[in-house]
Amino acid sequence: MSSEMARYMEMTVESRAAWEEAKRYLPGGDSRNSIFWDPYPIFVESASGARVVDADGVERLDFIGTMTTLILGHSPLAVTEAVGRQLERGVVYNAPNRHQVRLARLLCQRIPSFELVRFTNSGTEATLNTIRAARAFTGRSLIAKAEGGYHGSHDTVSVSVRVDPSKAGERQRPDARPATEGLAEGVLDSVVVLPFNETEAAREILEQHKEQLAAVIVEPMLGSVGMLPATREFLLMLRDFTAENGSVLIFDEVISFRIAPGGAQEYYEITPDMTSLGKIIGGGFAVGAFGGRHDIMGLYDPTSGPRVAHAGTFNANPATMLAGAVTLEQLTPEVYRRLAEVTERLRHGLREAGQELEVPVQVTGIGSLFGIHFLDGELVGYRDIAKADSAFRHQVFLGLLNEGILMAPNLVGAVSTEIGEAEVDAFVGAFRRVLRRMA
Ligand SMILES: Cc1ncc(COP(=O)(O)O)c(C=O)c1O
Repeated sequence: MSSEMARYMEMTVESRAAWEEAKRYLPGGDSRNSIFWDPYPIFVESASGARVVDADGVERLDFIGTMTTLILGHSPLAVTEAVGRQLERGVVYNAPNRHQVRLARLLCQRIPSFELVRFTNSGTEATLNTIRAARAFTGRSLIAKAEGGYHGSHDTVSVSVRVDPSKAGERQRPDARPATEGLAEGVLDSVVVLPFNETEAAREILEQHKEQLAAVIVEPMLGSVGMLPATREFLLMLRDFTAENGSVLIFDEVISFRIAPGGAQEYYEITPDMTSLGKIIGGGFAVGAFGGRHDIMGLYDPTSGPRVAHAGTFNANPATMLAGAVTLEQLTPEVYRRLAEVTERLRHGLREAGQELEVPVQVTGIGSLFGIHFLDGELVGYRDIAKADSAFRHQVFLGLLNEGILMAPNLVGAVSTEIGEAEVDAFVGAFRRVLRRMA
C-alpha cells in the first residue's frame, strides 16, 4: 500500500465505517459512480463557503463544488434565505410558478441563442431533449458526438466517453464504443464519433454521414474528462457544416456555461441551434435546461401540438428555479473576471510547482474551470488526455485529500467565489508537498 493510501485510511476511519454500512443497502455504497474513488470516498457531514467537513471532522477546501455546480460555494446566504422563504409557501405545485419565468428570462437575456427554454431535473434530461428535438425537427436519426464527450447517462450519449484508446479504432476515425453495458440494440449504429479538435478528420466523417445526420452534440470544452477546450476552428467547422447540411448544432454547456455570462458560446462567439444546461443554473438544486431556436423549441408547445412530449413531476419546481435565479443574479461580469483571475493564479502556481520539481504538469481550462494533467506534449483531444498515468494521478489525488484539498478523482476542478488568493496558495503549497513526497 502506498504511503498516501495508508495516510488516507488513517484519516478516514469514520468515513470507512459509514461506507461499510452504506454498502449493505446501496451497490458500492452510493448512488453516483462518478464520485467513487479507491479505496472508498469520504462522507461529508457539513459544508460552508469553500470548506467541507468529513465524518472524521477533517476540513478540506472544496475545489470541485459538486462537479462544478457550486459557483458561489456552499450555502450562499442569498440562496438559502430566498429558498427558505419559498419553502414556507409550498415545495412543489401542480401549476407553473413565477420563479421559472424569472430564471427563463435571465437565461434568454444572457444567451443570445436562447429564444425559448425548458427546464428539467438534470443535465442528462437536458441533452436527451436537445437530441430528441433535433431528430423530430430534421426527420433524421443519426447523432454525431466527440470522443471523450460526456453528455449524461441516456443511451444515445453513452457512447465513446472514457474509452480505452487501444480498443477504439484509429485516432482520426474513432469507433463508436459503449460506455456501459445494457445499451439497447442499435444504439452504436445511431451514433458517429468524431475526434475532438481534429477539424479535417471530423469534417470528413460528417461528410460521409450527412444525409442521415440529425445533430452534432459537443461540449465546447471537454469537461468531466479533463477540462480541455475546443479550438475555435473546430467549433466553427461544426457550425458551418451543420448550417449547410440542415442538421442541428447542439452545444452541451452543462459545465462550460460557467466560463462567461453567456457561456462558452459567448466566449467563442459561435451560436449553436440548441444548448443544454445544468449544474450552476439551479443554485445547488437538481436541475437541467435546454433551449435554443424558436422553430425547434416550438415543437414542445402544447397549444400547437405538442410534437415532442415533455413531462417531469419536478421540472421547474419553485425552489430550484428561485435558487438558480438568485445565483445568476449574483454572477455579474465583475464576478466572472475575478473568478478567472483567481483561477489563473492557481493554474500558474501549479505549473510552477511542476517545473520546480521536474514533474511534467499541464493545467488546462478556461475561466473558473481547470484540469491538471501529468503529461508532456500537446493536449489536442481525448486520446492525449487518456495517455496519463492514472495510478500516479490517483496518488496525487489521495495526497491532496490528505493535505486538505478536495477535487474530482481525475483532477478536474472548479473555483468558487468563496475561494481567494489564500485558498489558492494553500492548494499550490499542498500540491508542491505531494509532488515532493512522490519524487
Ligand atoms: C457536459 C455534461 N453534460 C451532461 C451532464 C449530465 O448532467 P447530470 O449529471 O445533471 O445528469 C454532465 C454531468 O456532469 C456534463 O458534464
